[in-house]
Amino acid sequence: MGDPVNEYTARLQQQEREIRSLSAEIESLKNPQNLSPSPHLDQLREENAKLKYRINILKRSLQEERIPCSKAMTNINQQLQEIFGEAIRASCPELDNPPQAVTPNQQAKFGDYQCNSAMGMAQMLKAKGVKVNPKEIAEKIIQNLPDNELVQKTEIAGPGFINIHLKRPFVSKLLSNLLINGVQPMPLASRKKVVVDFSSPNIAKEMHVGHLRSTIIGESMCRLFEFLGYDVLRLNHVGDWGTQFGMLIAHLQDKFPNYLTVSPPIGDLQAFYKESKKRFDEDESFKKRGYQCVVRLQSKEPEFIKAWNLICDVSRREFQKVYDCLDIQIIERGESYYQELMTKVVKELEEKGVVEMDEGRKIVFAPGQSIPLTIVKSDGGYTYDTSDLAALHQRLFEEKADMIIYVTDSGQSTHFQLVFAAAQMFGWYNPQVTRVEHAGFGVVLGEDKKKFKTRSGDTVRLMDLLDEGLKRSMDKLKDKERDKV
Ligand code: ARG
Repeated sequence: MGDPVNEYTARLQQQEREIRSLSAEIESLKNPQNLSPSPHLDQLREENAKLKYRINILKRSLQEERIPCSKAMTNINQQLQEIFGEAIRASCPELDNPPQAVTPNQQAKFGDYQCNSAMGMAQMLKAKGVKVNPKEIAEKIIQNLPDNELVQKTEIAGPGFINIHLKRPFVSKLLSNLLINGVQPMPLASRKKVVVDFSSPNIAKEMHVGHLRSTIIGESMCRLFEFLGYDVLRLNHVGDWGTQFGMLIAHLQDKFPNYLTVSPPIGDLQAFYKESKKRFDEDESFKKRGYQCVVRLQSKEPEFIKAWNLICDVSRREFQKVYDCLDIQIIERGESYYQELMTKVVKELEEKGVVEMDEGRKIVFAPGQSIPLTIVKSDGGYTYDTSDLAALHQRLFEEKADMIIYVTDSGQSTHFQLVFAAAQMFGWYNPQVTRVEHAGFGVVLGEDKKKFKTRSGDTVRLMDLLDEGLKRSMDKLKDKERDKV
């Protein structure tokens, strides 16, 4: 159905055009005496006046419906607390902190809400040596109720309960607003930015079922935040800078020596990963070369960057299938994004004097934490801790986020606890002002209550799981013949 105001406006305009052309016709008639007023014109004028009247009514009612969206989402409970709070304070000014208890009624026949404060107040007065019947207090509360638009009537029941009945027109207005405008959240007092770090699989390794929860929980949070009016930045903190790349690149060089000119057909990256891992574990000289490759990658030799990009692209295409399937748009900002910042952060921490040496490693202890963060390994490389410190720094100081949330399984909670505690120690943020949080969830378990795996011992591929889920849902629909609907 079209907007009634638009519809009326269109008709009005059409009529005005007709009137104008009729008037012009009249004008053009040379002899005005011969002119008998057209009945058509009168009719049109009359209808036009009616339409003008009607359109004003429509415009007004539409305005009424549209403007008070925030009012539409009145929190009844909160309003009742305010109204009754005022009455309670006025009834017993001698009590400092009278109990304010307004709750929804379980049984509609006793009213919509109830206020149970009178009994508690009588107890408090008794402790002060004043004996008052709770019923009397309840009466006083009712007498002291301020003028309001939502309470229809109140009645005292039992020892001093106050049953509250809401005004029908008030409730029906709320409900129709809800039907017309949908759920409207309270607008935020100021624009707020939230960074949600979720999904975050590791390049070259298959995105597995453990990432499914992160992806779905993270995306759901993002949608809720957006609904509430936040600026949401979805970040995919993919593992793309770790030591696994050394062995992968070394293996790539052997398997597809012309990879610089011809794209290697590594469709099955997981198999490729396994092969290289096997060589890495069994062949000393390959292992050595693997380590060298990491160093050369991290010092950004073009050949190595090229190989790294090739591998990342294969992974990325696989991840994308999952995101498309779940209708998710997330920005990839993996560990490698923070390379330079990691160096800067390490320097900053050294200047702050918080870095300690431990068997060639550089570590940092955060207050109250028994485990340190390792920020530089003995071979000079950075770690998961380093990249998370750099990422947090970037999100606080460049993104200027008001809230930062990390969605991973609870297995990583110690890691995040250490990172957050350290960042606070460095003075990077004040937890009273900025909310930085790990939203941990449980590890996905199989029917045997163990970490969910396929029979061969590998983790289940996420895309297979999604396909299977879709297939089974479709089977169910077919069973009920609802696939045709
Ligand atoms: N890549 C990690 C994993 O698969 C998750 C990363 C989570 N985000 C973060 N900023 N550490 O376990």
